Amino acid sequence: MLIRAARPDDLPAISALQREAIVTLAEASYGAAATTAWARWQAADALTLLDNGGAFLVGEGPSGLIAVGGWRPDARSPSVAWVRAVFVSPDRARHGAGRRLMAKVEDSASAAGRKDLRLIASVNARLFYEALRYTVSASHQWEIEPGLVLPCLLMEKLLPER
Ligand SMILES: CC(C)(COP(=O)(O)OP(=O)(O)OC[C@H]1O[C@@H](n2cnc3c(N)ncnc32)[C@H](O)[C@@H]1OP(=O)(O)O)[C@@H](O)C(=O)NCCC(=O)NCCS
Repeated sequence: MLIRAARPDDLPAISALQREAIVTLAEASYGAAATTAWARWQAADALTLLDNGGAFLVGEGPSGLIAVGGWRPDARSPSVAWVRAVFVSPDRARHGAGRRLMAKVEDSASAAGRKDLRLIASVNARLFYEALRYTVSASHQWEIEPGLVLPCLLMEKLLPER
């Protein structure tokens, strides 16, 4: 898997991968209505991914994108980065692609001086982030649409000094 910065022409494939990952890997945790709403929200948010002051990366193989994800700077704290939109193609899940992509996301945030990484994790992703040494700091209720709340987790990790 080659990991590189996402380009504007990647956006349709990024959105397709996100939808597949959500409806396949998160439905058992949230149900069909919530995952459909989440996929809709993610598609609407796609245009913000490439112009957020941080970085957005894609991991690709011979047949297309395998993993995507990035970070954006916190508006107030110069040491905080928010990890966002980490997804792996369902047919490539549990083969280390998410871990490899996140290592690059962390390197990128760290190189920009942001050592305090935070994220809002869906409950299905908790064990993944815990395996990467993120810890839960609070629960979070994401009202994705009026009246439709996804229980999530605020997670955090302090990167070592380089
Ligand atoms: C969460 C997600 C990105 C993980 O990607 P992945 O490539 O499958 O993860 P990796 O193979 O790199 O897993 C790294 C480690 O995390 C843990 N892990 C990952 N998925 C897990 C699962 N479903 N159950 C238990 N542990 C899991 C394991 O310890 C794993 O190491 P191992 O396979 O050697 O045991 C992927 O499942 C996904 O896209 N989910 C749907 C979208 C989503 O929830 N994204 C996060 C939004 S906050």
